[in-house]
Amino acid sequence: MTRAKRKWDHIQYALTTGQTNNAGFDCVSFVHQSLPNTSLSKIHLGTKIGELQLSSPIFINAMTGGGGAKTLEINRLLARVAKETGVGMAVGSQMAAIKNSEERFSYEIVRKENPDGLIFANLGSEATVNQAKDAVEMIQADALQIHVNVVQELTMPEGDRDFSHALMRIEKIVNHLDVSIIVKEVGFGMSREAVEKLKGVGVNIVDVGGYGGTNFSKIENERRERVLSFFDGWGIPTATSIVEAQSHNSDITILASGGIQTSMDIAKAIALGANGVGMAGYFLKILVDSGYEAVVKEVTSLHEELKIIMTAIGASNLNELQLAPLIFKGEVLEWLQQRQIN
Ligand code: FNR
Repeated sequence: MTRAKRKWDHIQYALTTGQTNNAGFDCVSFVHQSLPNTSLSKIHLGTKIGELQLSSPIFINAMTGGGGAKTLEINRLLARVAKETGVGMAVGSQMAAIKNSEERFSYEIVRKENPDGLIFANLGSEATVNQAKDAVEMIQADALQIHVNVVQELTMPEGDRDFSHALMRIEKIVNHLDVSIIVKEVGFGMSREAVEKLKGVGVNIVDVGGYGGTNFSKIENERRERVLSFFDGWGIPTATSIVEAQSHNSDITILASGGIQTSMDIAKAIALGANGVGMAGYFLKILVDSGYEAVVKEVTSLHEELKIIMTAIGASNLNELQLAPLIFKGEVLEWLQQRQIN
């Protein structure tokens, strides 16, 4: 199967059987405050990811590139959305373009469309230092995402089977690149232990990429003769994974993604400890079903609603939202109790 065909299959399945909505946010509640002492007009959505200043916590997470005319068009339109709404954007894995220069344009278009925007490069943990430098340079990226996706690879018929030394390669990239490094999962979540290991090699930003949104086990299983259905329910829900990452004592910037689809999901992810929130499948579905304008409208509405929620809570900025008291119930509470996280 060609790479372009595989990319397109991913997108098709990601929009159908691969979409779920159970990232754990229903098990998290804010405590209502009758005297919030805030004003909607004074709410600020600015945030920091490492050294990077952003006017919004939302970013379009890594999806595509390198798969022919259709993925090129998706990247072009998503880049326009990012420019129009002021959100950051990650491109999909650039390995295709590193191996075949004809594929570069479908990534370069993202920088071309949005010369001053915040853009993340993306590669897997198999990448070398030179490949990482190439990926960043290709799109003059502000940061590099390194994805870790063991369960996706294992479910993919033609996927990797050897995951040795990934941490060592990540460490080399951290030591040799000038931009911030974000290590991200792709929908299976990150544990406290994984975050601890990453922190140990100098990673300061993680995107927990939790379970409950786009499900790469389901997507890859669509392409298998004998399915590995035991992976379909495998992973740490995003809400839980943020707390796992947060429970690590040292200073680490947490980004949340995986099944984030509403302004309330965004507010809860931030209150749980995230500084930024990535959304992938949800935006892609709106783009493919309803077009570019619909995604711009959605991002604008998410910003407006997030401000409304923050007004009710009494949080005039994201730092104050991170201090809001929360109540846990159900599966998230059970998980945190068993893991002795509070
Ligand atoms: C992805 N994702 C992804 N992640 C990554 O690091 N590199 C990649 O190339 C891709 N490719 C990709 C393609 C498609 C079609 C989708 C929908 C997603 C994963 C993505 O960035 C995110 O981590 C997960 O999709 C979970 O977030 P959502 O989709 O639930 O918001």
